[in-house]
Amino acid sequence: MAYQTLIVEIEDSVALIRLNRPDALNALNSQMLGELAEALKALDGNDKVRCIVLTGSEKAFAAGADIKEMSEKTFVDMFGADYFAPEGEAIARVRKPIIAAVSGYALGGGCELAMMCDFIICSETAKFGQPEINLGVVAGIGGTQRLTRFVGKSKSMDMHLTGRFMDAAEAERSGLVSRVVAPGKLVPEALAIAKKIAEKSALTVMAVKEAVNRSYETTLREGVLFERRLFHALFATEDQKEGMGAFLEKRQPQFRDR
Ligand code: CAA
Repeated sequence: MAYQTLIVEIEDSVALIRLNRPDALNALNSQMLGELAEALKALDGNDKVRCIVLTGSEKAFAAGADIKEMSEKTFVDMFGADYFAPEGEAIARVRKPIIAAVSGYALGGGCELAMMCDFIICSETAKFGQPEINLGVVAGIGGTQRLTRFVGKSKSMDMHLTGRFMDAAEAERSGLVSRVVAPGKLVPEALAIAKKIAEKSALTVMAVKEAVNRSYETTLREGVLFERRLFHALFATEDQKEGMGAFLEKRQPQFRDR
């Protein structure tokens, strides 16, 4: 499928999606988010793909929602279209893991898009921020909720109220990103991580993703119960027998997603 605002490549069970609106620092307009939702849905249903990496350019993962597209819109336009809700929901429905690989700016909707992925790795050049306050609005694709869960209330308030940017070291220290890598190594490193995940049982990978994401949605007691039920259920799979058998036989497991 050809896209106008994305470049999608598949190699060794891993899909790489590059946001591609270089003239606007990958600002997220309706077309790009629509294409992204479509691409993710197609990759989720593609048997050749086991893990997805989402990246931008060296200068910008994405510099936010497209201000030119939004500036003249009214409340009726925004509320009527439920602006960016369908795309956000489509991304949340993807069952395969999505790694955000962030270089340069991840601002506003760009930071929010990275946080919608399953985890974020970034280059030393990354700059995260929720500068919507400077435009007279608040974040609109989950920033006030997700950033607070990632970095805690104090830092999230600071970021949203001042609009300041967070560099890679602070992002790693605060738990927003899982790893920081040297510039130029970002995409190879993200692809290497994705290939490691692609070697696991797809069933177990989906179970991990569901269980960790459930921690956002429920109480500790319910979340632990949900996890325990998944843990028990995986004993019905061949991959559990293979994984534990391979450990005992001191060999690498060969998972078959059964
Ligand atoms: N929307 C539309 N266009 C954007 C954009 C955005 N969010 N960010 C950058 N661009 C465009 C610029 O308008 C410029 O285009 P022209 O050459 O046609 O003028 C081009 O990208 C390059 O940008 P700059 O010249 O500004 O580049 P810079 O290196 O001087 O600055 C920057 C980089 C600090 C990221 C700056 O571009 C900037 O502050 N961008 C806006 C960041 C922002 O406010 N993001 C939040 C958007 S609102 C949002 O996201 C709401 C939500 O939660 C849903």
